[in-house]
Amino acid sequence: MCGIVGYIGAKNCIPILIGGLKRLEYRGYDSAGIGILTDDSTKVIKSVGKVSVLQEKVDSLDLNANIGIGHTRWATHGVPNEINAHPHMNADGSLLLIHNGIIENYEVLKETLKHFGYEFRSETDTEVLTMLIDSFLKKGHDLLNAVRAALSEVEGTYGIAVIYKEEPDKIVVAKKGSPLVIGIGDNENYIASDVSALVAHTQQVVYLEDGEVAEVYCDKFIAKDVSDKEIEKEVKEITLKLDEISKSGYAHFMLKEIMEQPESICNAMRGRLLLGEGTSKLGGLEDYIDRIVQSKRIIISACGTSWHAGLVGEYMLEQFAEIPTEVEYASEFRYRNPLIYPDDTIIFISQSGETADTLAALKESKRKGALVIGICNVVGSSIARESSTGIYIHAGPEIGVASTKAFTAQLTVLSLLTLLIARKKRMSLVDGQNIVKEIESLPEKIEKILSLDSKIEKIADQFKDAKNFLYLGRGYNFPVALEGALKLKEISYIHAEGYPAAEMKHGPIALIDKDMPVVFLAPKDSTYDKILSNIQEVKARHGRIIAVASESDNRIDKLVDYTIKIPDTIRMLMPILTVVPLQLLAYHIAVKKGLNVDQPRNLAKSVTVE
Ligand code: AGP
Repeated sequence: MCGIVGYIGAKNCIPILIGGLKRLEYRGYDSAGIGILTDDSTKVIKSVGKVSVLQEKVDSLDLNANIGIGHTRWATHGVPNEINAHPHMNADGSLLLIHNGIIENYEVLKETLKHFGYEFRSETDTEVLTMLIDSFLKKGHDLLNAVRAALSEVEGTYGIAVIYKEEPDKIVVAKKGSPLVIGIGDNENYIASDVSALVAHTQQVVYLEDGEVAEVYCDKFIAKDVSDKEIEKEVKEITLKLDEISKSGYAHFMLKEIMEQPESICNAMRGRLLLGEGTSKLGGLEDYIDRIVQSKRIIISACGTSWHAGLVGEYMLEQFAEIPTEVEYASEFRYRNPLIYPDDTIIFISQSGETADTLAALKESKRKGALVIGICNVVGSSIARESSTGIYIHAGPEIGVASTKAFTAQLTVLSLLTLLIARKKRMSLVDGQNIVKEIESLPEKIEKILSLDSKIEKIADQFKDAKNFLYLGRGYNFPVALEGALKLKEISYIHAEGYPAAEMKHGPIALIDKDMPVVFLAPKDSTYDKILSNIQEVKARHGRIIAVASESDNRIDKLVDYTIKIPDTIRMLMPILTVVPLQLLAYHIAVKKGLNVDQPRNLAKSVTVE
């Protein structure tokens, strides 16, 4: 979603802002803009579409400034056009503001401001906040206090950065619900909504917390809390490297991330498996494990792909950890006043750690006294920081909007958690050791599946013009069917549905004819014979079938049009393997359709608005 970048120092800020915005492109956006402060004036340049379009405009102007802010906008209030793009400015152009988040009471504020003579050019909530700050400047406040006063009247979420011609030595930033990071340089400072925009310049960062504001000068920053008290902020070192956020020769980030999975799941399990004891070690949980083991119930809450990971987690935890587990969409959970008991453990799963609904559900659960565990990828993200404790998945930066390696790393971590709890309960040493060995063998098995890439590409060629797809699986592979369908619809815009295979007869079978491709997840497990019956039912109605099946299976080939054979593993780990061909299938179909795989239309990498 929207991205923020800013610079103050001795260098020309223009290439820094454009470079930072390019790093933020993966978040998803539809327009972009920069605002700069030169000796005696401000200047704003905006464009619709890609940052490269903005760059062309900016390059033609030969600009130079030592302080500036930049923004990528994902439209919420008002269509994507130059007027609605950020930065927004006050009437005389002396005040420039960029904003991530949503000002919920903007209509009321706008009406009041109109009453006092303010005129608005855009349809955005952000312009209202700009004018509100301006109204406090006009009352004699300095920039920091005008920002604070305006924010005290605002309901909603924000990460903002403001520059003001009358106070040209600073950028004022504030945060509530949207991430805001200050990057510390040598006599220069940066601001961003995401460390990937800073990593080319500095590894030293300071994360603002909700309610905090800061004045960022070139040689220092002053942060204050809600009560206007100056606060000492810890400077943290980011471990992110520039090459981790480049395509490294791959055509797309999504393909790179699919191909990285043997390594990313190794990283997710590294140092966490104890073969001798047949268990796992999760440092963050050590102080809480007894309480977790004694939980009467586990609730997993998340959105999108992370929610699918949660569904697989439910199967794992109920089967082996023997704790009743429920999986909730965070967006529903947060609003229905859920019943939460002191002996519940609630797990929030989020790749980005910034998803607004997941974060809000977490805060509500904490408020009700639950033990809250975060499973996140982005280190230092809001969900990671707000959780009582957590487990990082260590998948490395995921830039492609369609989540791939985060999903398999989430499943790996959920299997480690399951193993840890199960071994504290009734699981035998031998069974625990068997699971450890199976987890350790996953990277090699994924390598084998990835070597089928060109075969899967040829299958994609046969299906790229399909209008609909069905994905069917049972047990542990039902959530994989959902995930396969989500991958396809996100990046190829083909309508796709995932179902438990047995549900087909209760409705979706009506859709099946020669134009309906059906992907079956059919590894040899206890549901295999039932899946074969479902395959027969589709075949009898002339559906075209792709099956993901076990290497050892030589029955299935005659029943289906295409098979993708994968290595075997134990049932609980099977989703980590079966999902990989589905990721590649979706990827190749989207590429063959000529679509923007890494930045699909309307989507954002991290959904920071409700
Ligand atoms: C996955 O491909 C999607 N882009 C999306 O469903 C995503 O998983 C969801 O928005 C949750 O994101 P999170 O894991 O960062 O919380």
